[in-house]
Amino acid sequence: MSKKILYSLLAMLILTAFVLTACGSAPAEPAAEDTTSEEAEVEEVEEVEEVEEAEEADASEVEVFSWWTGGGEAAGLEAMIEVFNAEYPDIEFINAAVAGGAGTNARAVLATRLQAGDPPDSWQGHAGQELIGTYVAGNQIQSLNEMYDAEGWIDVMPETLIPLISYEGDIYSVPVNIHRANVIWYNPAILEENGLEVPTTMDEWFAAMDTLQATEVIPLALGEQWTQLHLFETVLLGSLGSDAYDGLWDGSTDWSSPEVAAAIDDFAKVLTYTNSDSASLSWQDASQLVVNGDAAFNVMGDWAEGYFRELGMVPNEDYGWAPVPGSVGVFQFLSDSFTLAADAPHAEGAEAWLKTAGSKDGQEAFNPVKGSICARTDCDPELFGVYLQSAMEDWGSNTVSGSLTHGVVANDSWKSEIDTALGLFLIDQDAEAFQTALLDACVSSGPCQ
Ligand code: GAL
Repeated sequence: MSKKILYSLLAMLILTAFVLTACGSAPAEPAAEDTTSEEAEVEEVEEVEEVEEAEEADASEVEVFSWWTGGGEAAGLEAMIEVFNAEYPDIEFINAAVAGGAGTNARAVLATRLQAGDPPDSWQGHAGQELIGTYVAGNQIQSLNEMYDAEGWIDVMPETLIPLISYEGDIYSVPVNIHRANVIWYNPAILEENGLEVPTTMDEWFAAMDTLQATEVIPLALGEQWTQLHLFETVLLGSLGSDAYDGLWDGSTDWSSPEVAAAIDDFAKVLTYTNSDSASLSWQDASQLVVNGDAAFNVMGDWAEGYFRELGMVPNEDYGWAPVPGSVGVFQFLSDSFTLAADAPHAEGAEAWLKTAGSKDGQEAFNPVKGSICARTDCDPELFGVYLQSAMEDWGSNTVSGSLTHGVVANDSWKSEIDTALGLFLIDQDAEAFQTALLDACVSSGPCQ
């Protein structure tokens, strides 16, 4: 295209834009400051207030926001919606779920909506720093003390969880489950064919993956970046042990210590056993490589079990599980919970939803499908499969640590700085720079300030 044509085109574009803007912003008639317009204004304000009041009392519907759209997750949510529909047949459930594992997309959409003053009535938020540091700190959600009293939830929710959903004596969300983050899923047939035992330490894991490296299978299946952060936190736990891992989040473990350097080295080594197309795989894609026989191991939270079951896979045949090597005896947990928006458009609908979410019926319908155990302590274990029964036992007997990727231990800014540092490390593999960036993140947004 010649320069002359290009300039003419540009000029036409600018002219069109100018005309459109001029049309769109035609000055309004100057408002006469007389009594009639004042009266009209008062009427308008009254009308808006009436509409707002009507909306608050509106129990005709409830809009619930989550990131459970597929792969075992949607099925779990559907099971709880069924209980809700049976209990509240007159309230329409609007499922506003946004796709993308770990809420990476959903949380961005939610932030935009909250900023625009357009909150869903109730949304999914992780118990811990994510809930307290973001939604409570931003005055975006309401305290649920009265509901806890009325429903008797204090007696049935685990003591470990209450501080993670409370701020200054008020409780802010309804936990629906407990998930485990530090699970290594494996293909039993592949291990057997290669004469391998399930590894329990980092060294055993490396040795097993060295053997597998010489075969056709991928030693460790990996997916997109949030799953790499998930892998990193579990390797930190496995390499440091739970005391030192916990100390990273309260300032008692030094991010610049040789132990953290060694954990980063372990992580760098773990990455050498993974598939090269990880960035383009969802967590479901990566987990599926294991049950399809293309990969031996995958580290993923136990929502993967919900997915394996949805695929029709049989526990202990098509897949096995163990704590991530180095973290035997530790249950690294996270908990999905639901909130009540500060200015929920349908507060009554939202309260009804939260009652279902916190109920025994709701949790017993949801969790066996979702691949999690109930947050409530009174669910019937018989309703759960063999994996989840083992998770219940571990939750009751193991040392408990919290997840970084899923909102427990670090606030959103700190987590995002760690994630940025990880992103750079994945590109440049500079372990020293990674460790410095992790320390800097703790200084700017964590307890090292
Ligand atoms: C987590 C969430 C789980 C599961 C997972 C994968 O953050 O707590 O329930 O949805 O993401 O999407």
